[in-house]
Amino acid sequence: MYGGVAAPSSAFLPSVRGRSLPFGPDRGAIYKSELHSHASMVESQIRIVHISDTHITKFGMHIPEALDKCIYLINTLDPPPDIVVHSGDLTDNGILLDYEMAVEKIKEIRYEVLVAPGNHDERNYGDSLFREMVGNMDYVTSVGRTAFVILDSGIPDSDNGRLGRARQQRLRNAFENLPGKTFKVAVFHHHLIPIPYAGRERDILEDAGDVLKAILDLKVDLVLMGHRHVRHAVKVGETLLVNAGTVSSARTRGRLGNSFNIIDVTEDRQVTVSEMKIPSGELHILGTFRVGTQ
Ligand SMILES: [Fe+2]
Ligand SMILES: [Fe+2]
Repeated sequence: MYGGVAAPSSAFLPSVRGRSLPFGPDRGAIYKSELHSHASMVESQIRIVHISDTHITKFGMHIPEALDKCIYLINTLDPPPDIVVHSGDLTDNGILLDYEMAVEKIKEIRYEVLVAPGNHDERNYGDSLFREMVGNMDYVTSVGRTAFVILDSGIPDSDNGRLGRARQQRLRNAFENLPGKTFKVAVFHHHLIPIPYAGRERDILEDAGDVLKAILDLKVDLVLMGHRHVRHAVKVGETLLVNAGTVSSARTRGRLGNSFNIIDVTEDRQVTVSEMKIPSGELHILGTFRVGTQ
């Protein structure tokens, strides 16, 4: 429970260093947070750990040792993250046993975890379990001056992705008319533009053109996605589009292996995206980008 509000979206999330986050079902204006990020003390806006595609299950191609190593690497990061974002495919089959295991594992992360649903999470009526055991599938929240909009791009029992007009409007409602210094982050599972090293392109958002236009119109600073199991960062207009690889699925591509991203944002909107390899902990910088407009 956060801030005294019994919100299903926070059912399994531990409190973060004693802070109360405005996490939950659309709790009003997202810029009202009184949080103070540790990053402000080191002249950075926020440090985000971006994980994805854990595909947690006892019955598939999940690698439990890789997930355990990822959790260890996150919990021992220095400086620590302000927030952890999971961009979907938390589970492999969307079944109850997967969700039970996933909830227990995510609890081991010392920091708050924002989770977007993925196509695997919505298999087998899994969206009902996501709502019950993880939380809302679309919501807004903030950490310091960083605003997050998490959106469900999945379609039950389909690998395709789509936001649709209602979620596009939700994106606009959340990000329009924010104070100029707000760093705007959108999170959803399916990719917005083609991803390299992925083979035949498919499952891109069906309405990618309209979503991309909304994101560019709104000058969203950062979009966090997963799905392709390929880490990638590319700037389009004033927006940085970042995909994470898979934390703990055996379905890796080539020799990309398992990994997650660490994203450091400075006060002047310089964003450094690094990939941390699992299990080695080796850090590899994907790029440094200046985003948005002041
Ligand atoms: Fe996946
Ligand atoms: Fe996926």
